[in-house]
Amino acid sequence: GLWLAILGVAGYLLGSVPFGVVVAAAMGLGDLRKIGSGNIGATNVLRTGNRKAALATLLLDAAKGAVAVILAHWLGGDDAAQLAAFTALLGHCFPVWLRFRGGKGVATFLGILLAIFWPLGLAACAVWLVVAALTRYSSLSALLAAVCSPILAHVLGRPDLSLLCLALAIIIVLRHSANIARLRAGTEPKIGQK
Ligand code: G3P
Repeated sequence: GLWLAILGVAGYLLGSVPFGVVVAAAMGLGDLRKIGSGNIGATNVLRTGNRKAALATLLLDAAKGAVAVILAHWLGGDDAAQLAAFTALLGHCFPVWLRFRGGKGVATFLGILLAIFWPLGLAACAVWLVVAALTRYSSLSALLAAVCSPILAHVLGRPDLSLLCLALAIIIVLRHSANIARLRAGTEPKIGQK
């Protein structure tokens, strides 16, 4: 009970580190929340034109999700790992440090899945990459990777992960409401566009 709660809070705190904001500030790119979409993720860091900063943000935001899962699994087993996966995504999307105005969860989601069951993580990355290659929309790629993940968990032999994937996908879809509106209006910028 208490131990699980502590691991859940630890997952939230790890997830809540806004690496995009940190990397952009450290590399002198300005306040990320005043650039492009205003989002704190790697896609928006790329709009500064700095690819290294965008890659660093992607890797660090994914790594914090993976670390949250691995740590919780090590200290508390499978249930703790699933709880920390969920709270880490909550931390990224609703970080206390940014008055709960966080990111959209995509890189952290991919890191979480890679850590919890790597074939599922690879499959979600593959969906993202294929949709991105075909459409150049980061948001659409993320939405499809997220929405497919409960089915992919089933297909890859881990139906025990599909409820977690569904919960993560719901958060990601809700965080993309502005992107969904722009996709429908035909005004969503493509990857690398401002
Ligand atoms: O990873 C977030 C991405 O799906 C959308 O980001 O900045 O285009 O709203 P952005």
